[in-house]
Amino acid sequence: MIDANGTIYQDLTKILVTREEIAAKVKELGRLITRDYQGKSPVMICILKGGAVFFTDLVREIDLPITMEFMAISSYGSATKTSGVVKVIKDLDNDILNKDVIIVEDIVDSGVTLNYLKGMLEHRGAASIRIVTLLDKPARRRVENLKVDYSCFNIPDEFVVGYGLDYDQTYRNLPDIGVLSPKVYEKE
Ligand code: PRP
Repeated sequence: MIDANGTIYQDLTKILVTREEIAAKVKELGRLITRDYQGKSPVMICILKGGAVFFTDLVREIDLPITMEFMAISSYGSATKTSGVVKVIKDLDNDILNKDVIIVEDIVDSGVTLNYLKGMLEHRGAASIRIVTLLDKPARRRVENLKVDYSCFNIPDEFVVGYGLDYDQTYRNLPDIGVLSPKVYEKE
């Protein structure tokens, strides 16, 4: 794995969450989910692309006969003004009727995406739906009653990249989570 002196790290102002901190939390979360879903076979849904790195680490910490699904979605509207409607780019391969569903996200920001997604999956008849997120930015929440069931780290309202999170599709492969230098996005 690349180390924190790597070239792409030069674009960060600081590291916010280290790979060691992430690994410890992911392990803990895996144990918690294993305990909470004893006797069940949950369907774990990875929300692409941001959730992919977290998802692949998390599933390997869960000692249950889970199945994996991948879903790609995008919000209508601009980044600053989402309409609240989510477009499905890649749907689930199997139906989730009467299944216990766990949605795995990299970040909950306004909450608009997950709120819509949860409603959609409820409508498809899931037996239960829980939300797992790596990062939560509570300061940005616009959806009042969205319940995030498992959250690893609460973070301040800063532009973070790494461990799945991108800026303009780049930096997803950083093993740590860092704050992107404004120099990078102010160039535009
Ligand atoms: C991010 C993230 C969530 C959503 C959170 O996805 O993965 O899906 O935004 O924002 P919200 O809480 O304000 O709705 P993004 O659209 O950046 O796609 P990506 O995962 O492919 O990077």
